[in-house]
Amino acid sequence: MKFGDINKEDMQSMANGFPLMLGAVQPSESSLDAALDISRERKGGLCLIGMGGSAIAGELCKGLLNDSSPHPIICVKDYSLPHFVDSNWVVIAVSYSGNTEETISAFKHAQQRKCEIFTITSGGNLQELADPNTRTLLPGGFQPRAALPLILSVELLLLETMIGRTRTDLAPISKKLRLIAESWPVGVTPPDKLAKEMQGTIPLFMASGHLEAVAYRAKCQINENSKIASFHSVIPEANHNEIESLGWFNSMGVLPIFIRSEHENPRVSARFNATSEIYEDEGAKPIHLWHPKRTKIEELLIHTFYLDLVSVELANLTGADSVSVERIARLKRTLS
Ligand code: F6R
Repeated sequence: MKFGDINKEDMQSMANGFPLMLGAVQPSESSLDAALDISRERKGGLCLIGMGGSAIAGELCKGLLNDSSPHPIICVKDYSLPHFVDSNWVVIAVSYSGNTEETISAFKHAQQRKCEIFTITSGGNLQELADPNTRTLLPGGFQPRAALPLILSVELLLLETMIGRTRTDLAPISKKLRLIAESWPVGVTPPDKLAKEMQGTIPLFMASGHLEAVAYRAKCQINENSKIASFHSVIPEANHNEIESLGWFNSMGVLPIFIRSEHENPRVSARFNATSEIYEDEGAKPIHLWHPKRTKIEELLIHTFYLDLVSVELANLTGADSVSVERIARLKRTLS
């Protein structure tokens, strides 16, 4: 399968095409030059704006880069920017369609505050409003959520350049993703089998550290692709509140799915295991997902790719139309 073979009308094809989309686009040269200039300046911070499928790449990048970024990285999914985002901040505005009103509004706020703005879009109003020198255009026609690997390929490289880090070569990771999906390793439940285990449950994805946004992405993909209620939470915070509702969760058929990492803090590992035990004592059958012997970024991308596939398999099982997002579209029409 080649990039051009991905069927934009078919979520299974788009989900299978995740590895092909990864690294298929690069930031525009002029935006990379501008990002390099930023790495030589003292900036207030990096503010990533976008909604839904266009926001998630920023959340994933933040999880990966927070450990090494000299600048604060914040994600804004709203109409306006926090007060402290001033002319010394850099904004990356992402809207795949280019027409999302919250993103356009936050973009205009950033313009008013004279922030340096980069844009990532496939067209629409944002393409018109953006400075062509700091704009990267993506191939169009995908569902925004399916375009995640394209958005991430641009946003990650821009951010890495801005914070003075070596840019990740996504080509070998893309290859690893392709190979792993051809034959899932021993210990990894194939996506269709996991989807069967999840059928009839309310999945609750839990993660920690750099994988936090993977849990959020999985929840959103189950909502949008499989049309099923799903939730996410974060360890350790969930141990201080959510854990008290386990009895109710179990009676409602909530299925805890722990997104694990070999890089997790040992105290976090202890918490995952202890939380799992408490769930089991309440009668639940928690699932732990691992993709061992990987770097942090590989682990994050494999988990994301894998859970995207699971969301489509679940839609196949329930007969949901995994492409259409009629309610999102209706809301956008109503408000436009
Ligand atoms: C639809 C999807 C949505 C959109 C969101 C914002 O596939 O994933 O979550 O991403 O409605 O629209 P865009 O991404 O065009 O700014």
